[in-house]
Amino acid sequence: MCGIVAYIGGKEAFPILIIGLKRLEYRGYDSAGVALLNGDVNLYKCKGRVVDLENHIGEKNTKGSVGIGHTRWATHGEPNDANAHPHAIDNNELSIIHNGIIENYLTLKKELEKRGHVFKSDTDTEVLIHLIQDVKDSEKVDLEEAVRIALTQVVGAYAIVILSKNDPDTLVVAKKSSPLVIGIGENEFYIASDATPIVEYTRNVVYLEDGDIAVVPRHGELKIKNFKNKEVIPYVQELEFQLEELEKGGYPHFMLKEIYEQPRSIRDSMRGRASISRGTVQLGGITDFEQKFMKAKRIIIVGCGTSWHGGLVGEYLFEELARIPVEVEYASEFRYRNPVINEDDIVIAISQSGETADTLAAIKLAKAKGATILGICNVVGSSIARETHGGSYTHAGPEIGVASTKAFTAQVTILTLMAMEIGKMRGHIPKARFNQLLTEIKGIPKKVEEVLKTNDVIEEIAEVFKDASNFLYLGRGLNFPVALEGALKLKEISYIHAEGYPAAEMKHGPIALIDAEMPVVVIATKMGNYEKTVSNIQEVKARGGKLIALVTKGDKIVSEMADYVIEIPEVDEMFIPMVSVVPLQLLSYHIALKRGCNVDQPRNLAKSVTVE
Ligand code: M6R
Repeated sequence: MCGIVAYIGGKEAFPILIIGLKRLEYRGYDSAGVALLNGDVNLYKCKGRVVDLENHIGEKNTKGSVGIGHTRWATHGEPNDANAHPHAIDNNELSIIHNGIIENYLTLKKELEKRGHVFKSDTDTEVLIHLIQDVKDSEKVDLEEAVRIALTQVVGAYAIVILSKNDPDTLVVAKKSSPLVIGIGENEFYIASDATPIVEYTRNVVYLEDGDIAVVPRHGELKIKNFKNKEVIPYVQELEFQLEELEKGGYPHFMLKEIYEQPRSIRDSMRGRASISRGTVQLGGITDFEQKFMKAKRIIIVGCGTSWHGGLVGEYLFEELARIPVEVEYASEFRYRNPVINEDDIVIAISQSGETADTLAAIKLAKAKGATILGICNVVGSSIARETHGGSYTHAGPEIGVASTKAFTAQVTILTLMAMEIGKMRGHIPKARFNQLLTEIKGIPKKVEEVLKTNDVIEEIAEVFKDASNFLYLGRGLNFPVALEGALKLKEISYIHAEGYPAAEMKHGPIALIDAEMPVVVIATKMGNYEKTVSNIQEVKARGGKLIALVTKGDKIVSEMADYVIEIPEVDEMFIPMVSVVPLQLLSYHIALKRGCNVDQPRNLAKSVTVE
């Protein structure tokens, strides 16, 4: 979603802002803009990509060592030049960039209109800068205080940066429910909605907390206060990822790079946690909460999109290995129900970005009801990671492609380790079986490497089906969430309508769709319910469906029935999703590419969904 980048210091701000905005492109956006202060404020913005903004600016004046930049993902008002950020007031006396949503903006707007304010856009952000200016003038206070007072009247989520023409030596920033991070350089500061635009300049960062208002100076100390006007001591953290992780590293797309990174990312998720020699799994998210897990009567998993699919895999694993009942909830539904939550419930929130608004809200709800909340997040220091009582990072490294790939397999790796350890703790997994699982899971990265070798076969299949209008994905047991994930991958990047179903559910409706035009992807790996899946395949074949089957290497039965076959190596049933999802990621990638789609930044989608 929207991206923020700002700079104050001794360098020219414009190149920093443009590079930063390009780093933020992965979040998804539809317009971009910058404001630069050099005596006067030069403000440029337009609908389109950052490159369109650069063309729009051309040779115009971009001088200034303080500036703010933004990529907008439309919420209030269509994507156009007027609605793009920054928004300014009074001949650019104040300019603002904003991520989030001001929920009561209409009420505020009406009040401000009565007081003579005139608006040029449809956005909630413009209302906010008018409100701040109104407070500043009427209360005769400085900008920081005006921001504080104005924000007490605001309902919603925001990360804001304000540039003042009359104060070239400070930027004022504030945050609530939308992330904002400040990078500390040598006599300079960088501000951004996530650390990707900052890492090439400094590794020292401060993540603002909800309610923080900071005055960021050109030189000197960063001053942070909370809404109650109390000083907050900045907590400086070191960024863990490297700049190279934000580059394509020779791959044509981030998505392909991230698919190919999976042997490494799965290994990193297990590093220091699963040890064959010690025969142990050690995860911070479990060891610190051992007693809670021993007593837990239920686990509730919340997440959205791919992370929700990861949760569904977790449900099978926890129930099978740890014998704890599990409920998997869409965070967006959970937060608006009145869910029954007990103090001995454990809620596991799964999120790649750690910023998903619905998941964050679900956590806050469950926390207020007394449950223990654990997070499985990829982004270190993210809001969800900070809001939970504990948890485990996935260590997949930055995921830039909007379609989640390596984050999913890393989430499943953590969930598998958790289920194994809890199962052992609660006496449901004998030592020998535990050791066997440990040995097997450590071998998964090699198995994924083998799967990646089927890329050419998958590309050929993609060529055959690239013009299809619909796709059906079927799987049973642990492969059912994989079917859902395969369908989600395809629809989000190729715009082909795709649905995932439990294979046996097909005859209760979707079977009506099957004809010679319908490609059906069946994940028919060797596992407990293999024969049942074979029967479902026969139902597809009998109706003329085009069958693409994912089978275990050496499989004869399904391979003879299928029109196209992708083989994956044999793995313990518990670990199948980590391996079986990979060909489906590649299939989506190749189909989308052949259709000429923007694989890394599909239309309408945002990487980090920070509004509900
Ligand atoms: O950052 P999160 O894991 O919380 O994001 C959840 C979903 O928005 C995300 O998985 C989305 O569905 C992806 N585009 C899937 O590829």
